Amino acid sequence: MTRPRPSGSDATNGPTWHSEPDVRRASTLDERLHHDRAAHELAIERVFVRSWQLLPLSDPIQRVEPLTLLEGGLDEPLVLTLSDDGEQLLSNVCTHRGALLAEAPGDARALRCRYHGRRFDLGGTMTSCPGFEGAECFPRASENLARLPLEQVGPLRFTSIDPRIPFDEWAAPLRRTLAEYDGEIFTFEPSASRDFEIDASWALYCENYLEGFHIPFVHPGLNQGLDFSRYTTELEPYAVRQLGVASRDDDARLVSRAADDVVADYLWLYPNLMVNAYAWGISVNLIEPIGPGRCRVRYLRWVARPDLVGTGVGGALDEVEMEDQGIVLSVQKGVRSRLYPGGRFAPKLETGPHHFQRLMSADLK
Ligand code: FES
Ligand SMILES: [Fe+2]
Repeated sequence: MTRPRPSGSDATNGPTWHSEPDVRRASTLDERLHHDRAAHELAIERVFVRSWQLLPLSDPIQRVEPLTLLEGGLDEPLVLTLSDDGEQLLSNVCTHRGALLAEAPGDARALRCRYHGRRFDLGGTMTSCPGFEGAECFPRASENLARLPLEQVGPLRFTSIDPRIPFDEWAAPLRRTLAEYDGEIFTFEPSASRDFEIDASWALYCENYLEGFHIPFVHPGLNQGLDFSRYTTELEPYAVRQLGVASRDDDARLVSRAADDVVADYLWLYPNLMVNAYAWGISVNLIEPIGPGRCRVRYLRWVARPDLVGTGVGGALDEVEMEDQGIVLSVQKGVRSRLYPGGRFAPKLETGPHHFQRLMSADLK
């Protein structure tokens, strides 16, 4: 038997990445998104290069702190510097022949390339370049290191190589979520933070996150704490917010939404960031593409109200995370099937995954 032609594909030219705007008629995006190498590379260039990304943790910083943005995906070498002029996020690539500059954290007052000795100050300006006497039309502005934006909301810091969306527009839903903890101090909890590499596409992981339809089936424990009949999904231009409402009186409400009995605010920001707000603080899930059909799931937690840790629906997250990983691994195998025809969306329950695919479609086309 031959493989059914994937929905939204052209028989000769591969995926068209078409996504029907009306969820009642839409089918899932071409499933090559989840396992094909060319589709993976297209998503890296068209989606991730243009996106806002959470920075790897680097607090407190030394004067010079090299980091790799989205290791295994973007693999962009950057360096965070601290000088009298403040912090800068710079390209960590020498503008001469491309050697990496800082290779380890340190307290240097300048960046010096170990290949041919070019120097830059901690703001990224080239200050010397041995051997260039007689060079014409030199130096160009591009001899200085590229500077990336450095943004912050609460304890979370972000950058982008080439942002498609202004930061304030992208981050507006996140600011609303974190307003819950206005005036409170977040403490990062390394012991509750972990990374997993799994054989599933980052996009499948996001799609699973974006619907609560599976909660009664996949998460029996979580389902007991939520009143599924009052679970809501709100679409925003570059985000999806799902609100979980308590089924029990004893569960800790989010202060800002206590009147609506909200115990969990599940916010996803395009393309790969999830910020789950509970009464005790936030659990961040960052889903990093590291290959076709492979991703790194990073769980990071910040506590704002230590007395509430372990309570309510945000109390047993490990179990929920493992249940989600299990189902996503299953779907990864299924969408590769030659016999899988592509699916349809449940119109009221799967607006989140459909919105995700609409945004992906716009970027991939
Ligand atoms: S590559 Fe840096 S000075 Fe040549
Ligand atoms: Fe889930």
